Amino acid sequence: MDKKTVFILGIESSCDETSAAVTGNLQVKANVTASQQIHEAYGGVVPELASRAHQKNIIPVVDTAIEQSGITLNDLSAIAFTSGPGLIGSLMVGTAFAKALALALNLPIIEVNHMKAHVLAHFAEKPGQDNSHSPMLPFLCLTVSGGHTQLIKVESPENMILIGNTTDDAAGEAFDKIAKLLGLPYPGGPLIDQYATSGNPNAFHFPVPRMPGLDFSFSGLKTAVLYFLQREQSANPLFIEENRADLCASVQYTIITALLTKLKEAARQTGIRRIALAGGVSANKGLRKTLLEEGKHLDWEIFVPPFEYCTDNAAMISIAGYFKYLNGEFSDQSTAPYARFSGF
Ligand code: KG4
Ligand code: ZN
Repeated sequence: MDKKTVFILGIESSCDETSAAVTGNLQVKANVTASQQIHEAYGGVVPELASRAHQKNIIPVVDTAIEQSGITLNDLSAIAFTSGPGLIGSLMVGTAFAKALALALNLPIIEVNHMKAHVLAHFAEKPGQDNSHSPMLPFLCLTVSGGHTQLIKVESPENMILIGNTTDDAAGEAFDKIAKLLGLPYPGGPLIDQYATSGNPNAFHFPVPRMPGLDFSFSGLKTAVLYFLQREQSANPLFIEENRADLCASVQYTIITALLTKLKEAARQTGIRRIALAGGVSANKGLRKTLLEEGKHLDWEIFVPPFEYCTDNAAMISIAGYFKYLNGEFSDQSTAPYARFSGF
């Protein structure tokens, strides 16, 4: 085994995915995720059920990741884990597991900020693929997930500056909540995306959320859609069924417009034209297409990581852990997870 390679075991358990990954420097050797289907029946993530599912999944997921990586536990240099933000009960499972395994193997532990990890997923190298396309520094990252919508100026892996944030719902949350109003199961984001491909984005006009500066707001859009549907359904009970594709396309168009408006303003203010996308919503086909079109027009260089590194995954935790490892940033066993984002 190459002595210089730093092997990091990463653990992600902030929401409803239990994930473990092994990286060798920036190369992803394994990235194994168990998704929790149980929440579908409730129309959203139920925190207590999520914690229990993590408890069940964590050991099989880590075992599989180690097996797939081709290394043994004895080859590891450190264990990195998500310490927040996220659901506290879920984070506790990953944190306690990482601490216990590190204690048993006499390894250092590295706590990772989940939002920083979404950004650093851009540096993950996929075996057998051209990995020459990581963004040069500095770059702007738009992180759009179920829990967060952030505009970040990335100076370096250590130095990230939050320049825009959501004041209420995140973009993914808006997709999911509006999908629910349209009678779609959880998580509705990917379904809105699917229906939107055959719909007219200009069929219905919803207000583009307006906020000062570079911040976002999506709760007003959800309310506007709710009132609109109530009004239309009282005249035609089949309104949603008859217009689902157009409704999805129009909602998606509004969310994308809100995101792109702020992204363009951020690029203008900072003068940065390297633009990266991160988080689960970056899977959205309409968002990717619009970003690529606008990017061409504005001479931007666009970076979107492979899909498995966009949604919640442990490869991004291992990569973030690797950068901290290089700086000797380790935690001690008294560290505890936190629920809310309070900066990078
Ligand atoms: O980053 P992620 O996997 O988990 C969080 O940290 O939240 O993001 C999950 C979010 C969900 O809200 C889901 O509906 C949304 O990403 N999402 C999408 C698509 N795929 C996932 N939203 C719109 N279009 C998609 N294709
Ligand atoms: Zn996430």
